[in-house]
Amino acid sequence: MEVKNKIILALDVLSMDQARELLDEISDYLDTIKIGYPLVLAEGLEAVTQVKEEYQCKIITDFKVADIPATNQKIANVTFQAGADALIVHGFVGPDSVASCVESAEKQGKEVFLLTEMSHPGASQFLQPVSMDIAHMGVEMGIQNYVGPSTRLDRLEKIRSIIGKDSFLISPGVGTQGGDPKDTLKFADALIIGRSIYLAPDPVESLESIIDSIEF
Ligand code: XMP
Repeated sequence: MEVKNKIILALDVLSMDQARELLDEISDYLDTIKIGYPLVLAEGLEAVTQVKEEYQCKIITDFKVADIPATNQKIANVTFQAGADALIVHGFVGPDSVASCVESAEKQGKEVFLLTEMSHPGASQFLQPVSMDIAHMGVEMGIQNYVGPSTRLDRLEKIRSIIGKDSFLISPGVGTQGGDPKDTLKFADALIIGRSIYLAPDPVESLESIIDSIEF
């Protein structure tokens, strides 16, 4: 997946009005937007369809899918049918659950991102002990796309070494959670950024300064 300016916007606003107000300002800088539960639970899955159509962008849905295979497949099917280009799936549920999402994606010409380790402090308790195993599982399954934390660069580097240089790795945790954009891009292909942009007094200025910090 190609990502313009190496930035994926986490569109965690709570209405389509807020989404449009933000995207009208900054959509020229972006071609990939991540939509998760906040906007979809507030506005319905149509939010995915609407943002994709109105802003002509790729949509990664962040539903951190983590159910049994049969249910995962239903979630994936409905999400892709709404227009999502990719779906983030938890790895800790095991290969059969992940495979059901991969199967759905392949049938519809879409993509799956495998979530290895999360970026928040609490991830160190339960997820961190198995996150490298999850990355290995992804490689064994032939998965191309991964999510890993910008808040622990030593861990991100390890994930990259497991998945290999040709896999596509996106990384949340930049800005508000403490991750540095340029350092993260030593290991990741693109950054996921939410609050540092949509809560900024001037989102365009914030985005431009992040882009400058990456380029220089
Ligand atoms: P902020 O506002 O912190 O938003 O820039 C980050 C976005 O990324 C999501 N997030 C994650 N998604 N694995 C994921 O798949 C993670 O480890 C992770 N950490 C944060 C978060 O929900 C928000 O949308």
